[in-house]
Amino acid sequence: FSLKNYNTFGVDVSAKYFAEVSTVEELIEILNNQKQETKNQTPLFLGGGSNILFTKDYNGLVIQLNLKGISEELISENEVLVTVKAGENWHELVQYCLAKNYGGIENLSLIPGNVGTSPMQNIGAYGVEIKDSFVSCQVLNLETLEVEVFDKEKCDFGYRDSIFKKEGKGKYVILEVTFKLTTKNHLIKTEYGAIKVELEEMGIENPTIQDVSTAVIAIRQSKLPDWRKTGNAGSFFKNPTISKENYLKLKENFDTIPGYPNENGIKVPAGWLIEQCGWKGKQIGNVASHKDQSLVIINATGNATGKEIYNFSQMIIDSVQEKFGILLEREVNII
Ligand code: EPU
Repeated sequence: FSLKNYNTFGVDVSAKYFAEVSTVEELIEILNNQKQETKNQTPLFLGGGSNILFTKDYNGLVIQLNLKGISEELISENEVLVTVKAGENWHELVQYCLAKNYGGIENLSLIPGNVGTSPMQNIGAYGVEIKDSFVSCQVLNLETLEVEVFDKEKCDFGYRDSIFKKEGKGKYVILEVTFKLTTKNHLIKTEYGAIKVELEEMGIENPTIQDVSTAVIAIRQSKLPDWRKTGNAGSFFKNPTISKENYLKLKENFDTIPGYPNENGIKVPAGWLIEQCGWKGKQIGNVASHKDQSLVIINATGNATGKEIYNFSQMIIDSVQEKFGILLEREVNII
């Protein structure tokens, strides 16, 4: 079964077995009846396929989670709980909330992928992360096939990180996510430089959540490639955090190096490091670093293999390591 249309890199690999499920019962049934051959191998669960790189054919069962539905519960004058099934598209959820004037996730407009995978890497952009409005998620424990609820603390969110990438890896499937959003007095978040600039250009002084979304969409469209046209998985690497001492030392040699302090040191934009190594817009074979955002690796011709993309990313890692002594970590899941 070809997975070409199930990963935003558009890599043409195949899965030995493929199933699409639209209810939890169906999912449990499939897991119970797994073919003998794949019994000892955890199936691979696919959401929107927007944060994954297949480097070879998948010799097992791939399950596409297609659970749909949104429900709401007003819990106070200004707060609503919105519970969303895993298979709902993320940006469609954002639009749904904007239409109802529910605030909290507007900065996360236009992020590809599905709701079910959003907690895994604690999706974030333009000063907001999913953890800011996250309440809980319902998961299926793959060992017991029982449904469990994880609250925010249990999810152990970090920068592009959660329990589902650490000790919970491969052990749970996220079935639905509950968010707490505002209905009237929205907290407008425009600290991220690019949003401020965009809103100024739009001539807006007191932005609504809809304005913030419009600004974010404009920024993203101006520098991030549309995966429907050019295969990609957004940022390929995480932005590294280095020690203050290390940062100051680097600054002696590279005086324009940007840095943003956080609780663990100084976060340096990986895009800057990669650009400085000469990768921005550079193409090798079918793969390139995007011309407007070097942190994004693209399937430039549409014919790239996963191996080629992986090798390209390794060349970037090696040259950043050599020039700056910083080891970049991939953000995309490599299969
Ligand atoms: N920069 C360069 N050259 C480049 C790209 C970036 O010099 O080619 C420098 C610039 O100094 C720029 C800074 O990097 O000011 C930050 O760039 P940008 O605002 O584009 O953000 P980013 O750090 O590259 C992160 C997220 C994005 C998210 C944006 C906006 C990660 C790994 N990526 O990118 O998330 O949209 O911030 O908040 O944290 C994703 O995860 O797939 C993703 C797109």
